[in-house]
Amino acid sequence: MIEIKDASTMHYEGAYMAAVIAANNMKYVHWNAVGKQFDRIHNMASDYYDKLADEMDFFAELCLQNRVPIKNPCLVCDGYEDIIFTNSEFEYRDGMLAIQTIIQNYLSFLGTLSAELASISDRYGPNATSQQSEIDAIYAYWSKELDYKLSRRIPQLPKDEDGVAVEYPE
Ligand SMILES: [Fe+2]
Repeated sequence: MIEIKDASTMHYEGAYMAAVIAANNMKYVHWNAVGKQFDRIHNMASDYYDKLADEMDFFAELCLQNRVPIKNPCLVCDGYEDIIFTNSEFEYRDGMLAIQTIIQNYLSFLGTLSAELASISDRYGPNATSQQSEIDAIYAYWSKELDYKLSRRIPQLPKDEDGVAVEYPE
């Protein structure tokens, strides 16, 4: 692991790592979409990947601007196997649930970074404020995708007479 100098550097690096993991997971869903809704899943995950790839670059450069060394993205996922998808295929509902989880994990890192930046803004002055607003805009975008669009895209599982969820019909 990279040596952590203080709490703020950990959160810059954490956001970079979170963006790499989210982007890779999103691309994986893109490739492994299956079923009648293939094109919807495939295209949605592709659009999200493009945005995450831009954010990966933003956070990597934010690290370097703040003299935080970054890991090669090939090495970022070590130790995070529990949030790396390995399904060989994603039908519509599974794809939406995977995308939801990817965004939730990413947001939890971004929220930590945003709170940390707010607490150190005195130390870093106006620079920190502009970084904060950019991070807040990223956070707001993914929150809206999660709370509004994803929640409406994910179909409720039909229930049987005992109220137990049954398989979602493709
Ligand atoms: Fe592709």
